Amino acid sequence: MRTQKNQPFDVVIIGGGIAGLSLALRLPETVRVALLTKGKAGESNTRYAQGGIAVALGEDDTPELHLQDTLAAGAGLCDEAAVRTLVEQGPAAVRWLIQMGVQFDKAQPGDLHVTADGLLLGREGAHCRWRVLHAGGDATGAEIERALLVALHERTSIVVYEETYVSELLMQAGICTGIRALDRAGNSFTLSSRFTVLASGGAGGLWLHTSNPGGATSDGIALAWRAGAALTDLEFMQFHPTVMAIQGASHLISEAVRGEGAYLRNHAGERFMLRYSQQAELAPRDVVARAILKEMVIEEVAHQYLDLRHLPAQKMHARFPTISTICSHYGLDLAQDLIPVAPAAHYCMGGVMVDTVGRTTVPGLYAVGEVACTGVHGANRLASNSLLEGLVFGIQAACHLVEQLKAGTCLPAPEAYSLRDSAQMIEYEEDIPASGEEALSISQIRQALRQTMWRSVSLSRDAEGLTAALQQVRSLKASLPEQRSREEQETANMLQVAELVIVAALTRWESRGSHWRSDFPTTDERLKQRHFAFQRRLSGS
Ligand code: SIN
Repeated sequence: MRTQKNQPFDVVIIGGGIAGLSLALRLPETVRVALLTKGKAGESNTRYAQGGIAVALGEDDTPELHLQDTLAAGAGLCDEAAVRTLVEQGPAAVRWLIQMGVQFDKAQPGDLHVTADGLLLGREGAHCRWRVLHAGGDATGAEIERALLVALHERTSIVVYEETYVSELLMQAGICTGIRALDRAGNSFTLSSRFTVLASGGAGGLWLHTSNPGGATSDGIALAWRAGAALTDLEFMQFHPTVMAIQGASHLISEAVRGEGAYLRNHAGERFMLRYSQQAELAPRDVVARAILKEMVIEEVAHQYLDLRHLPAQKMHARFPTISTICSHYGLDLAQDLIPVAPAAHYCMGGVMVDTVGRTTVPGLYAVGEVACTGVHGANRLASNSLLEGLVFGIQAACHLVEQLKAGTCLPAPEAYSLRDSAQMIEYEEDIPASGEEALSISQIRQALRQTMWRSVSLSRDAEGLTAALQQVRSLKASLPEQRSREEQETANMLQVAELVIVAALTRWESRGSHWRSDFPTTDERLKQRHFAFQRRLSGS
């Protein structure tokens, strides 16, 4: 890949998933763009997305129906204006992906759920329509990355820095003016830019069990925090109900499998979801994940089962080739064996607070995709809305930046926009680690952090466990060696964001969506549409 350093850019984009790539490719060739990826280009959460991209393209579907489903799943916390942008811009944005060469699966004669253009639609939980476009059966994210990377390689106006870790956002007089990074050899360099965009994904790596690849260490959220940006909804982490639960395996088993009719069974063989929701296996994710956990606790077991044995075997193998291969790697036949599954950390619904064009509260700094909180997901994301969010808001940010570059301005997000209006701003002074704790290795610190987050900050929380977790995270911070290497810096990011997630979870005194407080097991109507946003208070200020 092409690389050049020490030159000013118009736009620096941190991250190469669907949000960062769409943004980069929607900027005109006259704009000087740098795109930085922590791993090899293409190695992002997007690549592992199996189920697909939700979009109202079915003949019986409308953006309004998609909006209603998204709001219902979001449990009273979605920002309706942002959701409207998502569902109304979605169809045109997906057509652009098709123009860029993304090959969605096409319908065959006899298929029932098909778009006017002959694309096949899938079904997932809490959608009232068949609405999910997919590619390669269950390799949608990989196909999107493939097509967008081909387009990226053809663009000479975009300079790509692979295996480059961004360690700091550069600030001048309160404005973000670029980045400091470490290249693959560990050498530090800076890039200046008129606009800097975080598109760096989420924080699944904070939890012991996660569907995310290893790079999901919350770097973008931590960078934004240190630069003074407001963060919101951090208490809402989505736990995917069905991640393969075999020692050493953390593979997603797509919700689309349940969309095709798979059942969940407990160890007694009972199809237990019928007891938990009228929508059974296709209830919203938070409902299904908690039901599986409850059955695990009742039966004192470490997983429950996904059952496809009543479905046509050949069709299932053809529809889910990736999952079928994963299963056979562990000696299981997708269609004939019970597949052990358990919930695992999957998607961060909170993040850096932005408006519908990606502006954060720091001038010059933008955020798109999972690192951002647009408010579209509320307290529980509707399945397959995440690829759509990255795509739509990546394009929204690109259009806005073109205007800003033309006007030569760098304005912060307006003082009033709906997400900000409904947020209660809390100034938080981060804990400064006390010295004297025994130094631990990076892998010991990460393991202890992940265990703590899993034990006390996952599907069920309470004040006692959260308070103990906060103490533990603070003591791990004090054990962290001086942060020089990339691994040490990433670990510092993880601890910083973990502290904020815990504080956010302690602040919300109710249960809503994915945030389940066993000490406040009901929803508090006063907290409907109420977001808690945190901003850094510098010590002594
Ligand atoms: C899945 O295929 O179940 C994951 C896709 C998503 O998180 O929306």
